[in-house]
Amino acid sequence: MLKQATLHQLKVFEAVARHNSFTRAAEELFLTQPTVSMQVKQLTKAVGTPLFEQVGKRLFLTQAGEELVKTCRSIFDDLDQFEMTVADLKGVKQGRLRLAVITTAKYFVPRLLGPFCQRYPGIDISLQVTNHEQITGRLNENLDDLYIVSQVPENVEVSCHPVLENPLVVLAPIDHPLTQEKNIPLKRLADEPFIMREPGSGTRQAVQELFEEHDIHLKVRLDLGSNEAIKQAIAGGLGISVLSRHTLALEGSPSQLAILDVENFPIRRHWCVIYPNGKQLSVVARTFFEYLLQEGKQLANKTAVQKLVD
Ligand code: PGA
Repeated sequence: MLKQATLHQLKVFEAVARHNSFTRAAEELFLTQPTVSMQVKQLTKAVGTPLFEQVGKRLFLTQAGEELVKTCRSIFDDLDQFEMTVADLKGVKQGRLRLAVITTAKYFVPRLLGPFCQRYPGIDISLQVTNHEQITGRLNENLDDLYIVSQVPENVEVSCHPVLENPLVVLAPIDHPLTQEKNIPLKRLADEPFIMREPGSGTRQAVQELFEEHDIHLKVRLDLGSNEAIKQAIAGGLGISVLSRHTLALEGSPSQLAILDVENFPIRRHWCVIYPNGKQLSVVARTFFEYLLQEGKQLANKTAVQKLVD
């Protein structure tokens, strides 16, 4: 039945399913919405059963649709692998590298990509930067080649390789009275208005675990979904927070933020590169993986951490 279906129709269908929207799929693929609808309609006809159902304004995949999404992804993966293997046979590294990294890794990964892309001009990269929960979701769906996290997701068996330290520190405005104190007791932070990362963030989880362990209740004044927004809020006097020390990497000098000397801090963590156990890495992914482990550590140390040396 699927003999009449084309690869293009499958690509369009997969994009609609991923975005749950015809409009967004059309935007991603640079097509018009009627073209996208028509492709999905023809594919549905070839399959002979509905792939989506519309409930109110929301679009849901039918069971057949769900199965087809899995099939599409495995077809595209196989084709990508094939393309990369052929390129490798020809002696060139060529193909697409899909990376998903947690928010703090944006302070070092893009800098590593520059020299990598110069060395391998045939490799195209897509980089998703998002929080711990979203990364775990992407990992479960096997959407990317490699993931950089600082907390290994539970419930998924992964192969995990530490790259660099990523400690969490307490940040306050530079003129905060606590900047003068040493070895501040943890419970002292409960008196300060606190700015917290959004639910789903690994930073938030690490902070909550530490304070729960010591039975301390923080006065959370606001939740913000970005490290940069939190830095601005601290500088603006809205409160103190806990963030990766690397978020200070590009601070102008003198910085408007200071690291407080609080007991139990820094919370020690590592950025790790992970991928599902048993996943066959593509030639391109393996090339980047090796690059990240061998040269990445040194380069990241030189760039992101340069200003943070005590
Ligand atoms: P998060 O992760 O963006 O989910 O808070 C950051 C980190 O773990 O460094």
